[in-house]
Amino acid sequence: MSTTADTVEKKGYDVEEIRAQFPILKERVHGKPLVYFDNAATSQKPRRVIKAESTYYATINANVHRGVHTLSTKATEAQEAARETIRTHINAKHAHEVIFTSGTTASLNLAAFSLGQLLLKKGDEVLISGMEHHSNIVPWQLACERHGAVLKVIPVTDEGELEPRRRDDATEYFTERTKVLALTHVSNTLGTINPVKELIAEAKKRGGVTVVDGAQAIAHLDIDVQDLGCDLYAFSGHKAYGPTGTGVLYGREELLNEMPPWQGGGEMIDTVTFEKTTYAKLPFKFEAGTPHIAGIIGLGEAIRWMEDYDKQAMAAHEHLLLEHATKELLTIDGMRIIGTAKEKVGVISFVIEGVHHYDLGTLLDQQGIAVRTGHHCTQPLMERFGVSGTTRTSFACFNTVEEVNSMVAATRKAVKMLR
Ligand SMILES: Cc1ncc(COP(=O)(O)O)c(C=O)c1O
Repeated sequence: MSTTADTVEKKGYDVEEIRAQFPILKERVHGKPLVYFDNAATSQKPRRVIKAESTYYATINANVHRGVHTLSTKATEAQEAARETIRTHINAKHAHEVIFTSGTTASLNLAAFSLGQLLLKKGDEVLISGMEHHSNIVPWQLACERHGAVLKVIPVTDEGELEPRRRDDATEYFTERTKVLALTHVSNTLGTINPVKELIAEAKKRGGVTVVDGAQAIAHLDIDVQDLGCDLYAFSGHKAYGPTGTGVLYGREELLNEMPPWQGGGEMIDTVTFEKTTYAKLPFKFEAGTPHIAGIIGLGEAIRWMEDYDKQAMAAHEHLLLEHATKELLTIDGMRIIGTAKEKVGVISFVIEGVHHYDLGTLLDQQGIAVRTGHHCTQPLMERFGVSGTTRTSFACFNTVEEVNSMVAATRKAVKMLR
């Protein structure tokens, strides 16, 4: 991911051309041009995605995999085309390894519930990290409570990286009781890109099942699930320029076939009697009920839209914003950046001496600048760094250096007012 201004120029990254595709960027907030730096919470949507959703409703709205009529067939084809787009994008072997959910949270709950049923016995261990989002903590806590298993946590260093080992023993986190490793690919609070491939290899050597929370990775990194070697990979559509209410759980076919269903209902069954139900084949075994068809079609379009651009050039642009913003923010008196890992995406969390993050967020909003404040659904991580919350700016492909400069200037001004 480390790139220079030259690389961006060579690839001809045209941020204005990209910005023109996002209608919301023309909005004004409190009379000021919108500067949207809350992309880690949800990214904005290009016109193509908005159009794909509305075209579905306007022209082919029908339920999928149910009717013989033309609209249902067309809706089914459009949904399954999105599944194939996602399959190729993450390099899954089969389209039926791509399960549609309502988001990363649903994907991880599915994983934790089903793997819990399949694998966890009293005294077994589930290994997560100290920088997980609550979505990759609580479902595992619930599974551990149900099955008498133990949740173990890889600590986080002062820089915001995973502590590679305890003392000189790299294997200590993994014991013969480790049944699941569930790890975030990229931290939503720190921006850290974790070495998930190495940890997956380590867990697999010991026979553990591996789950990756890719919520913050999907819009910024090239994801190749076969190269990563993970068993399950979860992400949300809305953080990758797609609609809210959409998500994916990728799963390796053999494992998905062994895993019991999470939710029961229509479409996930083969036969039902009052005595016994048998389940549908993949992916439908895990897709009970009517899915968010319009959203899935929009998600497929969002992935195609991203694929029209050079991902390396996008990443390089975001990296420039990260470096520039980091350098400029550090000129503000009392500034502390939480999360200084070597490998980062464009996320900066910070606290400023004598300034409450909520007050800063409110003053920035008055200047039209949207940032996130609070604990970012990572309370244990806040405790690790001894803070109650941070201000977080998170960049997307459509942000500019000028916007970073406005944010830094507005922050400087706010600090003067608040001290
Ligand atoms: C790392 C991470 N995991 C999980 C989630 C949950 O995603 P969603 O709310 O889309 O289900 C988020 C959302 O912020 C996240 O950043």
